[in-house]
Amino acid sequence: MKTLLLDVNPENPDPAKIQAAARIIQAGGLVAFPTETVYGLGADALNAKAVQALFEAKKRPLDNPPIVHVADPKDVSPLIKEMPKKAKVLMEQFWPGPLTLIFKRSNIVPSVTVAGLDTIAIRMPKHKVALALIRQTQRPIAAPSANLAGKPSPTTAQHVYEDLDGRIDAILDGGPTTIGVESSVIDLSVEPPMLLRPGGTPFEALKEVLCNLRLHPFVQAEQELPLDKIRSPGMKHKHYAPKAQVVLVEGSMPAVIEKIRFLAQSRRQKGEKVGILATDETQHAYKAQADVVRSLGSRFNLATVAQSLFRLLREVDAQNVDVIIAEGVPSEGLGLAVMNRLRKASGYHIVKVQ
Ligand code: TXA
Ligand code: MG
Repeated sequence: MKTLLLDVNPENPDPAKIQAAARIIQAGGLVAFPTETVYGLGADALNAKAVQALFEAKKRPLDNPPIVHVADPKDVSPLIKEMPKKAKVLMEQFWPGPLTLIFKRSNIVPSVTVAGLDTIAIRMPKHKVALALIRQTQRPIAAPSANLAGKPSPTTAQHVYEDLDGRIDAILDGGPTTIGVESSVIDLSVEPPMLLRPGGTPFEALKEVLCNLRLHPFVQAEQELPLDKIRSPGMKHKHYAPKAQVVLVEGSMPAVIEKIRFLAQSRRQKGEKVGILATDETQHAYKAQADVVRSLGSRFNLATVAQSLFRLLREVDAQNVDVIIAEGVPSEGLGLAVMNRLRKASGYHIVKVQ
């Protein structure tokens, strides 16, 4: 399959290109497109065959359902059993935006789209290209992140191309995404509601609207959860893993720096190539100890850290390092999503220091 590349202006996409992409999806094909969080790989959510092909293209396990994207809150009702009051409030406050809600699903949704579950994950993205594509298609679009399963999510069209060239019909290239981590996922089908995945909408902001919102234990897990605790299929699969081993060092700043220097030095003595993911405030401390040092951004601006996280995991990995040692950041605001992704990327290889 030849993958078609379509450049679009992220603020004002060319209608002809959106139309071409929409026709592909209407015909059961697969199109990657930018959202404000990461690139998604879109298929007609109501076409079981197309969704099946989506799983195959990504090599995604069939038990892990994608998020269904809509262009208008009104398009949710046909997909769900009932609209909880809480959902209305959240949608008014946070849509369009990086928030996904889990509802009890209706029967028009094919079983493959929800991986056989009786619930469905829905969000309305805040990106002109994504919204134009969904509107033009006139269908809800199932779109998991447009990476090969297990890899870091794509924040540029180039990342999508690296993973999926020849496996999908087209990529709409609207430049790098702004948020950089995926949407926050809230399960409203349980009481109290649970945050299943921290993401682009901070937990603190969600709690202001939904006071009894709980963090699922998985959000801050520091080891694999037992299977009976799993609420979201995505929780049990390998995630965000570069080729290199990832080691995450968490703790107070001076101790983290000292530990990373020590770990990097001892790895190099064993002949390994070492990459370090640091921050603006600390990167200077590692220059002599590692082969590749990159800064995620300032520790005082966790939005920039989130924005560059997946890109830098890919870039450092591309240098063929044996290990990537990453610095932990505070678990507040977007830092909660960053730490969740880093812990998973490390396969819970976490070193704690005082
Ligand atoms: O920002 C995002 O959410 C991006 C962009 C493309 O919109 N999409 C994304 O989709 O990250 P995906 O498929 O990579 O992640 C969806 C997550 C998975 O962890 C999945 O297990 C969970 O949502 N999920 C989907 N349906 C669910 C359901 N019915 N119940 C619980 N979790 C569900
Ligand atoms: Mg994903």
